[in-house]
Amino acid sequence: MDGKVIVVASTKGGVGKTTVALNIAIARAMQGRDVWLINGDRQDTASTAIAIRGEAGRHPPIATAHYPDGSALRTQLLHQRSKFQDIVIDVGGRDSTALRAALSQADLVLVPFQPRSFDTWAVADIAALIEEARATSGKPTEALGFLNMADTAGSDNKEAVETLADYPAIKYLDTPIRRRKSIANAAGSGMSVLEYQPKDEKANAELNALLKAIY
Ligand SMILES: Nc1ncnc2c1ncn2[C@@H]1O[C@H](COP(=O)(O)OP(=O)(O)O)[C@@H](O)[C@H]1O
Ligand SMILES: [Mg+2]
Repeated sequence: MDGKVIVVASTKGGVGKTTVALNIAIARAMQGRDVWLINGDRQDTASTAIAIRGEAGRHPPIATAHYPDGSALRTQLLHQRSKFQDIVIDVGGRDSTALRAALSQADLVLVPFQPRSFDTWAVADIAALIEEARATSGKPTEALGFLNMADTAGSDNKEAVETLADYPAIKYLDTPIRRRKSIANAAGSGMSVLEYQPKDEKANAELNALLKAIY
């Protein structure tokens, strides 16, 4: 049942990679899919969130593994990908062997970026790595960029999206996720915002729009 492998990637920290990876993995598991969340970051944020989830006895449980080393990540992915329907990889916010291994194995690269010029410059780095992974693997791996922690007002969102147009390696996905407390609080308890109470309808709609666009 070779699952679709999605890597949430950026060479910048703090753009929401772990939060987005966690939300996608849990949302798919809630739909009854067999999901594997791989943490390719030396930091253990994603694994910690899933551990908190496990200790709280929350359902569905999520299978996780920690492969901060690129060759281990590549090998394990090759051996185990047929056991899962969906595989989501979270990587660290810098260039690493795990990031490169994930990019070369992925079916889809998701690039969250924040509406701040400094972060949009960082898009140049990940765009170059994506192009390199395509050249090395010989696969035209799809890469989609979207705004995370988008502003609810002002012109920064629009400016960031215009900057992304300078990097044709990454296609823009017009499904922004705004900066919402519910999303941060949920992730801190090992939950998707879909599970969070009181229910944040706007956050749910944004995540569902992103899921619909990528699956
Ligand atoms: N859409 C969002 N709304 C509010 N807070 C967010 C959102 N996405 C991420 N965050 C918060 O931003 C911080 C960085 O997110 P994280 O997922 O750890 O980023 P990364 O993995 O890219 O370093 C965390 O404190 C997280 O709770
Ligand atoms: Mg992270």
